[in-house]
Amino acid sequence: MRQDYIDQAKQVLRDNDRGTYTVPTHGLYPFQWNWDSALSALGFAHYDEDRAWTEIETLFDHQWECGMVPHIIFHEYDPGYFPGPEVYATGRPTPTSGLSQPAVAAFAARRMFDRAKDKEMARRRAAALLPKMHAWHEWFYRTRDPEGTGLVAIIHPWESGRDNSVDWDAALERVSTEGVGTFQRRDITHANPAHRPTHAQYERYIKLVQIFRELNWDTSKLHDASPFQVVDPGFNAILIRACADLADLADLLGEPGMATRSRALADRGIAALETLWSDGMGQYLCYDRQVGALIESPTVGGLLPAFAAIPTERAAGISRRIEVLGRSCEYLIPSHDPTAPEYDGLRYWRGPVWLIVNYMIADGLCRAGQTDMVGRIMTDSLRLIDRSGFAEYYDPITAEPCGGAHFTWTAAMVLEILAQEAELA
Ligand code: DGY
Repeated sequence: MRQDYIDQAKQVLRDNDRGTYTVPTHGLYPFQWNWDSALSALGFAHYDEDRAWTEIETLFDHQWECGMVPHIIFHEYDPGYFPGPEVYATGRPTPTSGLSQPAVAAFAARRMFDRAKDKEMARRRAAALLPKMHAWHEWFYRTRDPEGTGLVAIIHPWESGRDNSVDWDAALERVSTEGVGTFQRRDITHANPAHRPTHAQYERYIKLVQIFRELNWDTSKLHDASPFQVVDPGFNAILIRACADLADLADLLGEPGMATRSRALADRGIAALETLWSDGMGQYLCYDRQVGALIESPTVGGLLPAFAAIPTERAAGISRRIEVLGRSCEYLIPSHDPTAPEYDGLRYWRGPVWLIVNYMIADGLCRAGQTDMVGRIMTDSLRLIDRSGFAEYYDPITAEPCGGAHFTWTAAMVLEILAQEAELA
């Protein structure tokens, strides 16, 4: 059975491999996505280390001079996707978006480095990536934390990766759609519209892109100009973990200055995360910079901080919170509390389970000694594969497979989970 999963997962990776990068899935996402690539590299690393490094290197080949690493690289023209390069109009030699995404690459690089069988190759390739990843992290703190709070803001829901989370509802509602014009979505021709964001959300997504395009994608101006500025604990935790992992890598690769700077960013971030903790909700919350208030919504973004080195009592709190969520669903971890009124078990980030999120939360909980909960999360993840194959995401109550099928990072996570299981056995 396990070997079957491994073979199937590798087949998904092979089918979505475009040589130097992978597409998340054929049709719905026909280009390279930033955090998809970084997490998918972990899958390749189990059987082709060279290809795994290439995945991340290709992403960084398209880094902007300011340090930003775009969330989509439009390697090849594909009319089946909206919004394509002509909507972003960033003017890059190979077209890219002008937004970024959760900075998970340094975590992946560190993990690949630690596990590498070919140590010499890993040293060489990690050393070349190191300054690029560090420049990206510094770019985030420079441009998205202008007041030096220790936490960065996203300026578009797409940056979080959790596109239509309830976390953004109120902030997005305030984005005016005046002048946005008409457009034709393509996502709902590839996936069930009931699994995707609404038209009203898309109008605001596009409006924000138009605002940034008017500023010629000058990333030093976008934060202040954006009507949407939200501090996402999940996004920050991933960046904090990446800074900590990069610091360790920098030490190992003889870059002590970079290590010190990166560790300082991580430490400051951990301390600042504390301002997002809610005793009442038993989890972390998003913070809306435009209105200066926490956003009281029970999403998985507030559980993802387990991925960073938060205090042990906070990790224990997150584990307790997941335990409670488990009482109202069959499969952990729902992206939104199933007992909350806005919960929608099929709709993208408003309820469904995502294996990449399960993996990151379990990884952090494991470091914090929450092993029972880690076991439950891993078991549920594999039960979903068993029931519904390699989907983009799953209904946490029925296990219905949702979004795109034959999904790259889901397959990569299965390889990761099975390898960890084998290690523990
Ligand atoms: C999409 O097209 O749904 C993406 O998440 C945007 O990056």
